[in-house]
Amino acid sequence: MIPKPDLLTVEEAKKLNAAETVELFCEYMNPGQLHFLKLLGFHKVIIESAEGMFYVDKSGRKILDFFGGFGSVGFGHNHPRILEVRKKFQDEKRHEIALAFLSQYAVALCKNLATIAPGDLKIGFLCCSGSEAVEAALKIAEKAQGAERAKIVYAENSFHGKTRGALSVTDSTFYQSTFQLLDKRVRVPFGDAAALENAFKQDPSIGVVILETIQGGAGIIVPPQGYLREVRRLCDQYNVLWIADEVQCGIGRTGKFFAFEYEEVIPDLVTIAKSLGGGKVAIGAVIARKPIYLKAYGTTKTALIHGPATFGAMGEACCTAIESLNVIYDEGLIDNAAQQGAYLLKKFEELKIKYPQIIKDVRGKGLMIGIEFGDFSQTLPPGLREIVSTLDDKLKGSLCGFVGRLLLKDFNILVAFTEYNRNVIRLEPPLITRQEHCDAVVAAFDTLLARGVVGIVAEYAQAFVKND
Ligand SMILES: Cc1ncc(COP(=O)(O)O)c(C=O)c1O
Repeated sequence: MIPKPDLLTVEEAKKLNAAETVELFCEYMNPGQLHFLKLLGFHKVIIESAEGMFYVDKSGRKILDFFGGFGSVGFGHNHPRILEVRKKFQDEKRHEIALAFLSQYAVALCKNLATIAPGDLKIGFLCCSGSEAVEAALKIAEKAQGAERAKIVYAENSFHGKTRGALSVTDSTFYQSTFQLLDKRVRVPFGDAAALENAFKQDPSIGVVILETIQGGAGIIVPPQGYLREVRRLCDQYNVLWIADEVQCGIGRTGKFFAFEYEEVIPDLVTIAKSLGGGKVAIGAVIARKPIYLKAYGTTKTALIHGPATFGAMGEACCTAIESLNVIYDEGLIDNAAQQGAYLLKKFEELKIKYPQIIKDVRGKGLMIGIEFGDFSQTLPPGLREIVSTLDDKLKGSLCGFVGRLLLKDFNILVAFTEYNRNVIRLEPPLITRQEHCDAVVAAFDTLLARGVVGIVAEYAQAFVKND
């Protein structure tokens, strides 16, 4: 018998403390990332469990989750109904791999998605992530349009994922780096219908446009009212297929199941992921207008050209997603997202009036909210300016990193900032958020901002130096 190598068990892994975890992370995962974890104070926190709105660390400290895994924990952590469905699935030894046989769970999930989605968005394609959904949507659109009309329009400051096709329409020189990308693509400003029409007019080879309905990574950018209606009108006029990327803003987050519903329009293809998995499984989906899907892959010759990865539509993942969709309606979570989101926005508007020198803008829809700080890099006294200048470029003019770290350290609240705009704090808490949670977050911001920019930066610098 081959001798067993020195493998860690799950129980041994569970017992690893922060220092041991950091050591293994640097040795076996991504040593360069430690620097950023330290800037935010994450290197000292090891989470033991999570329930509802809270993480609980090894010391028993409860951390209020207003980050929500970039919007992927819509139902809170370990929602009891979602756990129950998964337990039942396991207890009954139900089948997992759907590739050989038809899966009753996969078809039920796609039927549910079709029932929720408006118009003829009736065909579902299941996969394992948002990026994979974006790849699949781009391919469906390309196939349906034909090779001559395969050029893709995407938006400035877009984020659609990091796999190669998705990366090609993700507007970040940082993420795109020196990778080889799709070449048939055109970038337009987000929210600018005239620019979109101009692009369509100038280049008849454009057949696809992909847009986040609300841009997340860009800093929670809600397009002007009427923009999506214009997108629909222009796509119809120029025979272009519109992919609405709702990976972050979908599944009820904005107070509608899909954010595009605010303008009563129907895209040609919709991508979703994140919260679809109930915070427990990796699952994504494309929902396509039936005629478009059938045009791409509707015959026996084309049906198998594209398919999910091996683990797409796994039984337990589908059951988790089915239960998540049921929970969202049974518990009124979409309405709650609208209500709590409106309350949070109002409260942060008040803070903006109270701290006009610090808060530049407050924006968002439902529980997808951005708090933008002003750039303070030029207003710090010389001593502090020097300390800050030793930090990472991304944090120099950004109060978010400092506020984020102090919220975690002093108030046990977790928030995130946005990929491209480091001056924007992103609040994407679970949709089960109650007013008391919102009040706790607003009160923490109020207390922190009352210290002023200099106070916050000085305190951050102190905590950083003391490794506190
Ligand atoms: C709008 C949007 N599209 C696509 C993706 C990629 O999703 P995933 O990380 O699941 O691949 C993300 C991830 O943050 C996203 O926000």
